[in-house]
Amino acid sequence: MMRRRLTAFLACLLLAISMGATAGPAEDRKAMLEHYKQRLPNIKLEDYIYGALALNQDAKDQYDSIMMFPPFVNDVDDGRKIWEKPFKNGKKFSSCFPRGGKNVAGNYPYFDNASGKVVTFENAINACLKSNDEAELKYGSKEMGLLTSYVKSQSDGMKVNVKVEGPGALAAFEKGKQFYYARRGQLNFACATCHIDNVGNFIRSEQLSPTVGQAAHWPEFRAGTELTTLQRRFQQCNSQTRAAPLEFNSEEYNNLEYFLTYMSNGQKMQTPVFRK
Ligand code: HEC
Repeated sequence: MMRRRLTAFLACLLLAISMGATAGPAEDRKAMLEHYKQRLPNIKLEDYIYGALALNQDAKDQYDSIMMFPPFVNDVDDGRKIWEKPFKNGKKFSSCFPRGGKNVAGNYPYFDNASGKVVTFENAINACLKSNDEAELKYGSKEMGLLTSYVKSQSDGMKVNVKVEGPGALAAFEKGKQFYYARRGQLNFACATCHIDNVGNFIRSEQLSPTVGQAAHWPEFRAGTELTTLQRRFQQCNSQTRAAPLEFNSEEYNNLEYFLTYMSNGQKMQTPVFRK
């Protein structure tokens, strides 16, 4: 009896030690939050979703008033129409998702062990179309953007809840992380150079937002009208440093999205939003 208890105790102790010793996604996220707490001591954790707006009260006030009557309501409604239109077989998109598509978007991207790949929300939409013998939508197309603007709005208030479980998932996360920290382009900048090392600093007239919170609100409507998806933003940020932008839905961008979204775990989703 005594010996069994001792063995169980030792097993627990070993587990605790090994968990403490291995760095992993949870530790990465904790370290990142700690960094921002030092760099942005006046920003509340729940305000990271506002990105650069959280750093500038005037800009945030302007944003709040724009969001009361968003200029993109009709676009979101166009997305609703695409979502609700029945397939040729009579079924609808809602048949492919739990809860008819409500409060699901925060679980994406996830890692699919069967295919060995990260599955983004756009991938899930296309898988739904395919399984219903419908033509897939082009990744990055306006139609896909309108559709996700609407469907993801059905998850407003849900907390980002990306899981990294198992060796395949961990490898994809690590690749996304490497991408984030790798320097590239003529200016030799990493994503991290701007959004981590220089967070809160200005680059031309723009203040740099923190990584945490960045993935919780896509698509955006820039200037109120220009529909911009998260991977489109990756392309823009890559181009800004004169690095070659990659293709939508490339393995690199999907892994990057996986890493970036995990860093927003626990942040409240809101889709779509206005950005300048
Ligand atoms: C030269 C600096 C720079 C680099 C490098 C950079 N970005 Fe950005 N990024 C910006 C600026 C400026 C903005 C607009 C202001 C803001 O929101 O930070 C921005 C915005 C973003 C946003 C949108 C934030 C929001 O709330 O609208 C995301 C997401 C993002 N960047 C991701 C990345 C990723 C991923 C990389 C690496 C591929 C990267 N950035 C590299 C400067 C940079």
